[in-house]
Amino acid sequence: MAAREFFHKAAKDTKIMNFNNSLEFAKELDKADKLSAFRDKFFFPQLNGKEAIYFCGNSLGLQPKTASAALQQELSDWAQFAVEGHFHAKNPWFSYEKLFDKPLAKLVGAKPSEVCALGSLTNNLHLLMVSFYRPTAKRFKILCEEKPFASDQYALESQVKFHSFKPDEAIIELKPRAGEFTLRTEDILAKIEELNDELALVMIGGVNYYTGQAFDMKSITEAAHKVGALAGFDLAHAMGNLVMNLHDWNVDFACWCSYKYLNSGPGSVAGIFVHEKHGNNLELPRFAGWWGNNPDTRFKMEKGFIPAIGADGWQLSNATVFSMAVHKMALDIFDEAGIGNLRKKSEKLTAYLEFIIDEINSRQFAVGSRQSKITLLTPRDKNQRGCQLSLVLSENGKQIHEQLLKAGIITDWRNPDVIRLAPAPLYNSFEDVWKFGNELNKIMER
Ligand SMILES: Cc1ncc(COP(=O)(O)O)c(C=O)c1O
Repeated sequence: MAAREFFHKAAKDTKIMNFNNSLEFAKELDKADKLSAFRDKFFFPQLNGKEAIYFCGNSLGLQPKTASAALQQELSDWAQFAVEGHFHAKNPWFSYEKLFDKPLAKLVGAKPSEVCALGSLTNNLHLLMVSFYRPTAKRFKILCEEKPFASDQYALESQVKFHSFKPDEAIIELKPRAGEFTLRTEDILAKIEELNDELALVMIGGVNYYTGQAFDMKSITEAAHKVGALAGFDLAHAMGNLVMNLHDWNVDFACWCSYKYLNSGPGSVAGIFVHEKHGNNLELPRFAGWWGNNPDTRFKMEKGFIPAIGADGWQLSNATVFSMAVHKMALDIFDEAGIGNLRKKSEKLTAYLEFIIDEINSRQFAVGSRQSKITLLTPRDKNQRGCQLSLVLSENGKQIHEQLLKAGIITDWRNPDVIRLAPAPLYNSFEDVWKFGNELNKIMER
C-alpha cells in the first residue's frame, strides 16, 4: 500500500476507535478493564533493575505465580509416595491427563473427548499426519501457507518424502498477491478448488507466526471437505489467542504448544484436537503406544493395540506430570478469565497498539515527508488477526529493537526487518502499549 493511502486508512480507523495517544488516556482504559487484575498473577522479567514491558507472549508466555507451588506439590508427592503417587498423589498421576480435557475443550471449542494434553507440538504434528495424510498416486498434495514455521516445513517435507513423493510437487505454498503481505481468503479457497482431487490435506497455521494473520478455519475446512480433502491446523499462535469452534467448524485435527499464550513454561506439554468423527474410528491407522490404549485393558499388557476413544487414542506415553502441573495452573487462569472476555480485551488492546503505531508513523511521515517508516504486515481487520502485530521497519530495525530492549521493552526481532509485538490480554496493559509507543517515537526521532 502506498504511504499516503496507508496514512489515510490509518487516520480513518483511529477516528472510529476514538483513541488518544496519552498516558492519562491509557490509564483510563486500564481502569475500565475488568481483566486488569490478572496481570498480578504473573511474574514479569526484570530489566535494568525494574519490571520489563513484555510483548513476547507469542514466543514464551510469562510464569504464573502459582506454578512453583504446583510443581512443589508433585515433587512432595513423589518424595512421599514414590510409585504409589500414581494413585495417592493429590492429583493421581495415573489419570493426570484427564485434568485437561475440559479446559482445553473450552479453549478450542470442542467436546472434552476431542482434546488431549500430550507430547510436543512437532511430535504431535507427525503423529497426526500419520493418521490424516494418507496420500494416493492421484491425491497427494498438501496446501500450506508460504514459508510456514520451519518445524512445520520440515514435518511436511519429511512426511511427503516418507510416502515417496517429491516435496516440490506435493507441497503447494499459498503466496500473497504481488504487493500484498497476507493471504486473501478468496485466494485460499480458490486454490483448494483448483487442486481439487489432487489435494490430500490443507495444513495451515491458525495464525501465521510471522505476519500474525489469522485464517478463516471454518471456510478453509469447508472448502477442503468439498473437494474430498482433510483440514488440519497448527494452532501454536492461535491457542489462548483466538476464540475457536473446532468441533462445529468440522476441523479434522489440530495441534498446539502451551508455552506461548498458554503460559505453561518452556517446552511444556502440548495438545491435540481430533474431531470425534475420526476419534471414534478405531480403525484409523496411527502410531501407537501403551498410553493410547483403551484404559480398561492398558494394564493387561497383552498383544493387540486397542485405541482409547477420542484424542486420547493418540497418546504414546504416560503423563509428563511436572510440565503438566504448570500447564494446569495456567489453564485455571484462562478458565477464570474466560477466553471470550480475553478476546474482547485483546481486540481493543491490539487496536490501541495499531493506533499508536499509526500515530508515530504519521508524525514521522509528516516530519520527514518520506515514505512511511513502519509498515504493518498484519491485517487491519480484527477478524483476520489475534493480538500480534508484525511491523516492518524500513530503516535501522535491528538497532531500534535493541534500543527498545535497553529501555526495558522486550519485543521479538525477525530477520531481516520485522519486529513482532504481542500484547497479551492476560497480563499486558494499555499503559504498556502507550509506554512502548512513547519509547519507539523517541528512538525514531533520534
Ligand atoms: C507455528 C509453529 N510451529 C511449530 C513450532 C515448533 O514447536 P515445538 O518446538 O514445540 O515442536 C513453533 C514454535 O514456536 C511454532 O511457532
